[in-house]
Amino acid sequence: MLDKLKEQPGDKIIALMALFAADRRKEKIDLGVGVYKNDQGKTPIMKAVSEAMSILNVKQESKSYVGLLGNMSFIDQMIRLVLKDSVPRDRILGGQAPGGTGALHQLLLLIRSLDTDSRVWISSPSWPNHAAILNHLGMNCLQYSYFDEETCEVDFDSMMNDLGYVKPGDVVLLHGCCHNPTGANLSKENWIELTNFFSQRDVLPLVDLAYQGFGDGIEEDVAGLQHMASNLPEICIAVSGSKNFGLYRERVGAAIVVISDKRQHKRTEDNLKSFNRLTFSFPPDYGASVVNLVLSDYDSDKIPLADLWKKELMEMRSRMLKLRVSLSDSLRRSTNSNRFDFVAKHRGMFSLLGLSPNEVLRLREEHGIYMVGDSRINLAGLNHNQLDNFSRAVATVI
Ligand SMILES: Cc1ncc(COP(=O)(O)O)c(C=O)c1O
Repeated sequence: MLDKLKEQPGDKIIALMALFAADRRKEKIDLGVGVYKNDQGKTPIMKAVSEAMSILNVKQESKSYVGLLGNMSFIDQMIRLVLKDSVPRDRILGGQAPGGTGALHQLLLLIRSLDTDSRVWISSPSWPNHAAILNHLGMNCLQYSYFDEETCEVDFDSMMNDLGYVKPGDVVLLHGCCHNPTGANLSKENWIELTNFFSQRDVLPLVDLAYQGFGDGIEEDVAGLQHMASNLPEICIAVSGSKNFGLYRERVGAAIVVISDKRQHKRTEDNLKSFNRLTFSFPPDYGASVVNLVLSDYDSDKIPLADLWKKELMEMRSRMLKLRVSLSDSLRRSTNSNRFDFVAKHRGMFSLLGLSPNEVLRLREEHGIYMVGDSRINLAGLNHNQLDNFSRAVATVI
């Protein structure tokens, strides 16, 4: 019977990882997979996280089940981290899910259960899993323009033009910060304009927040989102702890919902519980408990864990910001043009370079430089010694 299973489309990034692993060239560069790497090309465990792990290993007394929404103290910490005091606390609730992907999935189940035939609008381009999950859930997915291929910046006019076609009850999926794959982000003014627009159209924003702290700062990265949350009756937010806590494999995620009326609290929470029960039952605890400990006022001997985490995250962010400036300078020198100046303006780990599929292929075959086929690079995969080689290679293929 199982021989009737359908072929599944392969994941391009995972296929790229395999190609990279098989490449024997010493000078090969991996700019494909979306994990943060330090200057030595490693993805280390953050110190605040490893301290919290040691504490937890001693303090945790049981591995019995937690609740269907997971560790509620963790949820409280994530709500504070993301929304601070932008919305009254009794209008916010949330539950744990396995990673940002799990949080998105659970929020989409919640939206699908409304039976309103909502259409979900995603940016073009977007993280490929957005369309894939919507498709998997049988939900209607539409795209809005987002990226200007000429300037490699956000094309906000075209975005608003396309969003002119939203209907009341539609959902618009936004990237909270550090847009994947483009690296081009909405300005605070754009968030304000979108908020005004959504408030007139009865549209539900669903914000995917996978990189808080990777752009301009922990607070700065959510300023637009907080403005939207404080000015609209409802908003859903899928938060990932994979990148900013470096806990990729522990599957740390929170599905946060802002409701218009605190009397809907119990019903909304019961729905989240029920969808968790039906999908995976209890969410994974370990990573969430570690994050909870990092963000709580727990004092280690030397420095509060939360301060240590903020400092480490700041170091990661500065590395990416410096790399952006150096890479755009280096590309300017190699190509003798300002074509790639946008790299310094983008934020987060990614930038879409605007190269053709053939140019991307040549970079891989002739220079051992691996990037996703749409020319998305993960900047954190570079170190300062590789910048000029990379830029020279780009100059030879364009
Ligand atoms: C835009 C975006 N959303 C969500 C995620 C989900 O992250 P995770 O499920 O690993 O927490 C990612 C990860 O690559 C992402 O880039």
